[in-house]
Amino acid sequence: MAGKDNIMDKIISLCKRRGFIYQGSEIYGGLAGTWDYGPLGVAFKKNVENLWWKRFVLDREDIYPIDAAILMNQNVWKASGHVDGFSDPLVEDIKTKKRYRADHLLEASGISAKGLKLSDINSKIQELKLKSPDGNPLGEVKQFNMMLKTHIGATEDSSAISYLRPETAGGMFVNFKNVLDSFHPKLPFGLAQIGKAFRNEIAPRDFLFRVREIEQMEIEYFIDPKSWEKIFDDFTEQLVEYSKDLGLDQKKVHKLEVAPEDRAHYSKRTIDFEFDYPFGREELWGLAYRTNFDLSAHSKASKAPLEYFDEETKEKLIPHVIEPSLGVGRTMLAILTDAYREDELGGEAREYLKLSPKVAPVILAVFPLMKNRPELVKRAREIYLDLRKKIKSINPHLSGQIVYDETGSIGKRYRRQDEIGTPFCLTIDFDTIEKDGSVTIRDRDTGQQERVKPEDLEKFLEKKLN
Ligand code: GLY
Repeated sequence: MAGKDNIMDKIISLCKRRGFIYQGSEIYGGLAGTWDYGPLGVAFKKNVENLWWKRFVLDREDIYPIDAAILMNQNVWKASGHVDGFSDPLVEDIKTKKRYRADHLLEASGISAKGLKLSDINSKIQELKLKSPDGNPLGEVKQFNMMLKTHIGATEDSSAISYLRPETAGGMFVNFKNVLDSFHPKLPFGLAQIGKAFRNEIAPRDFLFRVREIEQMEIEYFIDPKSWEKIFDDFTEQLVEYSKDLGLDQKKVHKLEVAPEDRAHYSKRTIDFEFDYPFGREELWGLAYRTNFDLSAHSKASKAPLEYFDEETKEKLIPHVIEPSLGVGRTMLAILTDAYREDELGGEAREYLKLSPKVAPVILAVFPLMKNRPELVKRAREIYLDLRKKIKSINPHLSGQIVYDETGSIGKRYRRQDEIGTPFCLTIDFDTIEKDGSVTIRDRDTGQQERVKPEDLEKFLEKKLN
């Protein structure tokens, strides 16, 4: 059986070869912790985002979309606690001056760093006389702020400092009052956003898992604290349902009640949704009860009254917040590692992605059996163009494309589609032209083909794709 590293290497290689995901700035030797999405990666990513958007925004009346600026006034991150508290413990190799995550070094030597304070991590590293991966002694463990700092405009003094936002959440807290004033929503209501966030990870690793540029899908759901437990449970259920929308193997999805000492500084309760990746069980998504930490802190620092007036009780309150926070990349990685398969079909080894039609970048590929037979090509193009028009009525929620391919042998074309996770391939052969017009539809997972008459095609696809 292939080892975990081997599987990750195979997935990374498939993603590059087939145009899903490329290393960032590759022709210049790359930039660690950054990845670029190619044509199929964009389609796959959009499907993941669209399913989230549908479940959490379009299908609800109480969640408002926003799209805030990435660059924000530095005071946002002072008030939120990120300037002082958003840090990782780092340790330096005293010879090479390379820096490492101290908690990761401890964990690599078999000691859990969960819940340990900086001073405890430092004592353990010194006690055990741990060495750097290059075999050199290590210095003192220090906190390292993970925000990416920049300067706005021409000056470089402290008044010009800004940060690439470390979470999209900040953009929603500062717009709480704007949405309240324009739409007058009643509690509970939420703001939702998909956008980039940035973290200066010292040790990016495991492909899309630990990166410096993160696409987040976040909701800040404003509530009366009296009902926080029920709303927290509802979002827990909704996240499970979303993991089913994506087709994730439910046996690999786990909920972890995060211990108080391991929670973020703003959270009173956190559940981590974890996933069994090939490199171990790791965090996929987080669900946090942020109390009114953020609105209170921003209200105090900005002097803006971030309150809600309850018409029934005639009282003002600073709403509390439940926050489901999801990374698009980690979600895509979970789907990819879950879907990756190796088997043998027709006596030949094959690599393929067992993607759900809801996330597959291509849902149906249409082929003429041979490219040099004009009658086959003509009919294949007709069916392809017709289905492209009809697919939205077959299933309006599928975002994948329908493609046409005539290049290479039919066997090679099937393999190419299997490799990118296309669930179905439709072929026009000689029987289509000479007999009843029926086409073959091949199932990716079994390789089995069925003949379908043209008048039954829509119904057949409706059954398969719903
Ligand atoms: N907003 C929570 C997080 O970025 O982890």
